[in-house]
Amino acid sequence: MTTVQSPLLRAARREATDYTPVWFMRQAGRTLPEYRRLREQYDFFTLAQQPELCARVSLEPVKRLGVDAAIIFADIVTPLLGIGVDVKLVESVGPVVSSPIRTLEDLTQLRELEPEQDIAYVSETLRILRRELPETVALIGFAGAPFTLATYLVEGRPSRDYTQVKSFMYSEPRVWHALMERLSAITITYLTAQIEAGAQVVQLFDSWVGWLGPADYAEYVLPYSQRIFQALRGRDVPLIHFGTTTAGILELMATAGADVMSVDWRIPLDAAWERVGTEVAIQGNLDPVTLLAPREVLRSRADDVLRRANGRPGHIFNLGHGLLPQTNPDEIAALVTYVHEQSQQYRQQGAA
Ligand code: CP3
Repeated sequence: MTTVQSPLLRAARREATDYTPVWFMRQAGRTLPEYRRLREQYDFFTLAQQPELCARVSLEPVKRLGVDAAIIFADIVTPLLGIGVDVKLVESVGPVVSSPIRTLEDLTQLRELEPEQDIAYVSETLRILRRELPETVALIGFAGAPFTLATYLVEGRPSRDYTQVKSFMYSEPRVWHALMERLSAITITYLTAQIEAGAQVVQLFDSWVGWLGPADYAEYVLPYSQRIFQALRGRDVPLIHFGTTTAGILELMATAGADVMSVDWRIPLDAAWERVGTEVAIQGNLDPVTLLAPREVLRSRADDVLRRANGRPGHIFNLGHGLLPQTNPDEIAALVTYVHEQSQQYRQQGAA
């Protein structure tokens, strides 16, 4: 068996690395100038359907920021668009669905995904990226988790409190479970296609799941996350499970079966790691707002994350949620260098 060269892949498997690998959620697009220029010419999905341009968007942060991974440029609603759901990404708002799902009949909108016909551009983008990326930089694929996709499909648009999707879940449990079944099947097909096209790690984004209490999470969401990770398990690709505001459901989330748990800043990294168990790797957990803070504040928060990880194999440095659009790319690049240098020194000093 050949040794894995990429520090991020090694960390995801809890193997020792010379320094702590780092990448940022929402590093492709959002903050970087080349992306902004492309978006002046194309709307989001026109851009997202052109593999050469998508690959450029994904490669830009690798070159400019020095991160240890590239993430494919797409959106969580990409597979829904692929099967013909009328969804638009509205500027400064997010995904807006023209006919929200309320009844069993509405589920006919959600047919099975056929990757070759529906989202061939995603696979093509991944193949280009695998050719272009050095072996040391990992290629991350991703999908939205069923609950997070359902928030948009049921509410019709981004929500502040998820009142509609939660009351739907309580009052129409049969439709809810049928909806989650369909979304799970689509997600498994979508992530499998990404792995077959060259994704070396995949992340399941359950961004809004922390709005559920533990009993609701266990009943309405967990079985589907388990099903997804179970289906992907045999492929030797590390699986990352992401959510925000998840401090109340962390142990339950960990039973879904991912290799890496991604946590936000509302819980200290070491406390989170303890709770999910040290037989999984951990990702996170810097507050994205610290990148807008004076550099000494940013550095002290980054130090704190590294100290809590304590040089233990299996930490991927990241934010607790995505980069904020107004973040200065020079600050991000400086943070990458800082994390690499500090974590290397920390290992050399032989942390306890
Ligand atoms: O990480 C990356 O940079 C890769 C690309 C990526 C996009 N969306 C492109 C995008 C990823 C990983 C996503 C994930 C995504 N999309 C999530 C999960 C992560 C999270 O932040 O919780 C969610 C909830 C969405 C839904 C979504 N898409 C929203 C709420 C919005 C509007 C707000 C915003 O700017 O993010 C989008 C639009 C979107 N998706 C943009 C990008 C670069 C910005 C819009 C644009 O360029 O016009």
